Amino acid sequence: MKSSVCVTGGAGYVGSQTVWALRDRGVPVVVYDNLSTGHREHLPPDVPVVVGDVRDEAALQNCFAKHKVRAVVHCAAVALVGESMRAPSMYWSINVGGTAALTGAAMACGVKAIVFSSSAAVYGEALQIPINERHPKEPINPYGRSKHVAEQVLEDARAAGGPAWIAFRYFNAAGGDSKGRTGEDHEPETHLIPNILKVAQSMKQGGVVSPVKLFGGDYPTEDGTCERDYIHTEDLAEAHIRGVEYLLAGGQSGAFNLGTGQGRSLLAMVRAARTVTGVDIPYQITARRPGDPAQLVADADLAWQELGWRAKNSSLRHILDTAWRWMQRGDGA
Ligand code: UFG
Repeated sequence: MKSSVCVTGGAGYVGSQTVWALRDRGVPVVVYDNLSTGHREHLPPDVPVVVGDVRDEAALQNCFAKHKVRAVVHCAAVALVGESMRAPSMYWSINVGGTAALTGAAMACGVKAIVFSSSAAVYGEALQIPINERHPKEPINPYGRSKHVAEQVLEDARAAGGPAWIAFRYFNAAGGDSKGRTGEDHEPETHLIPNILKVAQSMKQGGVVSPVKLFGGDYPTEDGTCERDYIHTEDLAEAHIRGVEYLLAGGQSGAFNLGTGQGRSLLAMVRAARTVTGVDIPYQITARRPGDPAQLVADADLAWQELGWRAKNSSLRHILDTAWRWMQRGDGA
């Protein structure tokens, strides 16, 4: 049997896109996921899925040994800023405890490389825009703190002879698979783009429509709404594959931003979604959401220099087109 890449959280949003990308290249893949929020039906039917908790070191070891895992893409996590403010211990347990269990199992099984889904949330409020990897790490919510500590867990394991690692600090993951095989599917949905598109969908279906709520109109940004850097999941998936290849070829461990370098305000997103959907989507500016920084925009030059990666599929048009097609998948679109 050939060695394989294990994707933890592989049934999730970014994980499943990465699984498809690996499989499209003929790389043997195994998914490790507890299926609490992930969806088996968004995965290639022939990819093995081990159902387990990421904190279960023994189950991870069994999976790594059985499938001859040589590299791990570690996406299993809880990842909602707002929820992390209300339930911080869950964030420490799953994001930090899960990464600790993973590194333990990886060391026991001789795994060579771990590519970790980290987040722009490790930076906190931006002191300068765009944000590069040397920016101070002062997260302003438990989610960001848990990802920052998880990076250090990987660093410590490496220093003790464990796997080489990369932490990819995603800015805002967005869009759906170009071939319609997977996409964003959260319940409840808290993310901006699907929430905007849901309003468009209800309007198209003639349902009762409440405007999309935009959280905060008094930020120190050009139009007063938060700015984010939206990066397509296909670009993230490509980065993960390059990350695995780079580490297996002896590349240096470290953290890399993944973003486009372009900030988009909430209002700009509504305008672009109106163009893509052809629906005059209504919005309402409400109070700020606790834990939200005003601006997050990536300087992703390091990923270009070291990995030869840059965003290629992250135009707003492509992001919204693919997300819109994915949302309408049950409507005969
Ligand atoms: N927003 C709204 N209305 C909504 C949903 C979101 O106005 O219905 C706003 C938020 O307040 C924020 C922006 O849209 O200003 C983006 O919010 P998302 O919830 O879509 O995404 P976040 O920026 O909170 O978080 C996402 C991921 C995190 C990651 C972060 C990094 O969920 O895992 O991006 O930028 F850390």
